[in-house]
Amino acid sequence: MLKPLTFSILRHLSDGEFHSGEAIAASLGVSRANIWYALKNVGQAGVALRRVRGRGYRLAGPIDWLDADQVARELGEESALFRIEILDTADSTNTRVLDRVNAPHGLVIAAEWQLAGRGRLGRPWHSALGDALTFSLLWRFPQGAGSLAGLSLAVSVAVVRALVRAKVSGLMLKWPNDILWRHRKLAGILIEIAGDAVGPASAVIGIGINVKLSSTTKAQIDQAAGDLGQAGCTMKRSALLACVLSDLADVLRLFSVEGFGPFAPEWQRLHAYHEKRVTLKMPDGSAIAGKIAGAANDGSLMLETKSGMRRFYGGEISFRHP
Ligand code: BTN
Repeated sequence: MLKPLTFSILRHLSDGEFHSGEAIAASLGVSRANIWYALKNVGQAGVALRRVRGRGYRLAGPIDWLDADQVARELGEESALFRIEILDTADSTNTRVLDRVNAPHGLVIAAEWQLAGRGRLGRPWHSALGDALTFSLLWRFPQGAGSLAGLSLAVSVAVVRALVRAKVSGLMLKWPNDILWRHRKLAGILIEIAGDAVGPASAVIGIGINVKLSSTTKAQIDQAAGDLGQAGCTMKRSALLACVLSDLADVLRLFSVEGFGPFAPEWQRLHAYHEKRVTLKMPDGSAIAGKIAGAANDGSLMLETKSGMRRFYGGEISFRHP
């Protein structure tokens, strides 16, 4: 866990030049010992720092900081739909938004460094300072939680649209909502719903996009992971956040009225495993073999099995056959 002072120092070093401990201390109004202490553990956050006797400190590589004003500028008029907060650190941005589920619609919390990101099926989501875009959006729907089953698939379409606008090609989806680049996981979505089955529901839409993963982060991830750097995209995280929020706004507006149906053809075109023979691994450990027939309008996976066409709402596609 890094202290606020550490973030102030890292921002101070963002010009990429050497700064002496003395100069940093004077400009931040603290002692040199405080500076040394605050920078002692930056390696934990994936930050590489050069320390040279007589010259001071310098960042080994730039940090792509988020900037709420820039996000708002890039969004233009659409920025009125969102209230964007950027935290230096958060355990999980989904947890931060869930804690404020009664906040105004459109709250966005993004973290420079997410310490305990959560993925689907109770898995961790790994990232380091500035190497991923990690944020969550609070969005209210008039319909009950029961009709939001296809939401995560619609959101995956929005993320792909945004990444295509950011000039990323070779994107595909894996049911229910993994975003792949050349069969490597590039982005993930975790949606948590508060509200009952019939009344209005609040969705916390959490999105993680790998921007430029450090080798340490890559080593923590237990599957093939890709990042935007590999995909040739150099868009900065603030511009990317604006791009994704803009496509999300369009998709969520239509989803609110018509559900997943209008997005189903686009989702299916992007699905990497359409008509492939797969095994669906269920959370209880069972496995069902079949051929993927697409996603239904409620977001369920349609699988042609030996006992006929079946729909699944959970589970994980695998190519290992039982
Ligand atoms: C998955 O593919 O398993 C879903 C990953 C979702 C990760 C994002 S990062 C921002 C938000 N906060 C979290 O704790 N999780 C989501």
